[in-house]
Amino acid sequence: MSFGKKNTKNLLIDMKIILTGAAGFIGFHTTKFLCRKNIVVGIDNLNNYYDVKLKKNRLKKLKELKNFKFIQSDIQDLKLKKKLNYLNEQKKFNCIINLAAQAGVRHSFKDPYSYINSNILGQLNMLEIAKSLKIKRFIYASSSSVYGGNKQLPFSVKQRVDQPVSLYAATKKSTELISECYAKLYDINAIGLRFFTVYGPWGRPDMATYIFTKKILEKKKIDIYNHGRMKRDFTYIDDIVKGICGAVNFKIEKKKFHKIYNLGNNKSEKLMDFIETIENNLGIISDKNFLPLQPGDVKETYAEISESRKDLNFHPNISIKDGIPKFIKWYKEYYKL
Ligand SMILES: NC(=O)c1ccc[n+]([C@@H]2O[C@H](COP(=O)([O-])OP(=O)(O)OC[C@H]3O[C@@H](n4cnc5c(N)ncnc54)[C@H](O)[C@@H]3O)[C@@H](O)[C@H]2O)c1
Repeated sequence: MSFGKKNTKNLLIDMKIILTGAAGFIGFHTTKFLCRKNIVVGIDNLNNYYDVKLKKNRLKKLKELKNFKFIQSDIQDLKLKKKLNYLNEQKKFNCIINLAAQAGVRHSFKDPYSYINSNILGQLNMLEIAKSLKIKRFIYASSSSVYGGNKQLPFSVKQRVDQPVSLYAATKKSTELISECYAKLYDINAIGLRFFTVYGPWGRPDMATYIFTKKILEKKKIDIYNHGRMKRDFTYIDDIVKGICGAVNFKIEKKKFHKIYNLGNNKSEKLMDFIETIENNLGIISDKNFLPLQPGDVKETYAEISESRKDLNFHPNISIKDGIPKFIKWYKEYYKL
C-alpha cells in the first residue's frame, strides 16, 4: 500500500468500525489500512462466486492484524444484529462500511436472485443494524454502472440515473434509494460511493485486469467486446481506499445526511490502450478475439469528482501506467510464476 506518512496523518482516527465484504478485494485493502489505527470487525460469508482460496488468503493476512476481528456471516442474517450488539455493548461502533455485495454485471443474467438477496436485503439488514445499534455513520458501495447508458460525460452525481442496463445496476440504484429513506427516517448519516472499475493487487478474478493478464500469460485468446470500442475510468485500489477513508473522516455538519459521491480516476482510458499497457508489462502481444457488445455492458465510463475532491479530500493520482505493473507484480508473486 503506497500511503506515505503525510497521507496517512489525515486519514486515521481511532474508531470502531463494522466492515462487510472484508474478504473481498476492496474490503481487504480498506480493512488493512483502517486497522492501523482503528478496530475493524469484518464480516463476510466467503461465498464461492469466485475462488474462495483467494478470499481466505486475504483473510489470513487480515487475521495477522491485532485490531481485526472476523465474523463469518451473511449480511442478510437476522441473527447478525445480536452478535454485533454484544460487541457494541463493550465499545460502541462509530461506523458501518457496507461493501459486501454480489458484484459483477454479467453474472446478474445467470443468478438474479443473488443480487436481490445480497445487495438489497443485505443492505436493508445492515441499515436495520445501524438503526437499532444507533450507529450514526453508514457508508456503502454503489457503482458507476448506475449511470447505465447515460450519454453525457463525464458522469456526474447530479445526473438522473433511472435507466439501468443490468440487474446489478438496478440493485445498486435501489440501495441508494433505500439509504436515502433510512437516513431521513432514522437519523443515520449515509454516504454512498459509486466506484469506477477498481483494479490492483489481490484484485477480482472476474474483472478485466485479472482475466487479460491470466489469459495473456497462458497464451490464450482474449475476448474483446464491442470490437474494442470501449472506454473505462480505471481506478487504482489505493485511491479507492483513500476515498473510503475520506468518507469515514468527513465532518458531517447536518443531521439526516445522505450524499452520493463518484470515486473514479477522472480519466477515461481506451480499452485497447489498457490492453496494450498490460501487454507491454508482460512483454507478450495477445491473440485477440473481437466480439460485439454484450448485454448489460456500458460503452464508456468517466467520473466527475469535484464533490468527492471537496468533501472527501479525494485526489486520485495513480494512472494505469503506474497501477498495472503493481497488479502484474502481485499476480506473478501470488501465483509463483
Ligand atoms: N471492484 C469494482 O470495480 C467495483 C466497482 C463498482 C462497485 N463495486 C462494489 O464494491 C463492493 C466491493 O466490491 P469488490 O470488488 O471488493 O467485490 P468482492 O466480490 O471481491 O467483495 C465482496 C465480498 O462480499 C462478500 N459477500 C457477498 N455477498 C455477501 C453476503 N450476502 N453476506 C456477506 N458477505 C457477502 C463476498 O464473499 C466478497 O468477499 C461491492 O459492493 C461491489 O458491488 C466494486
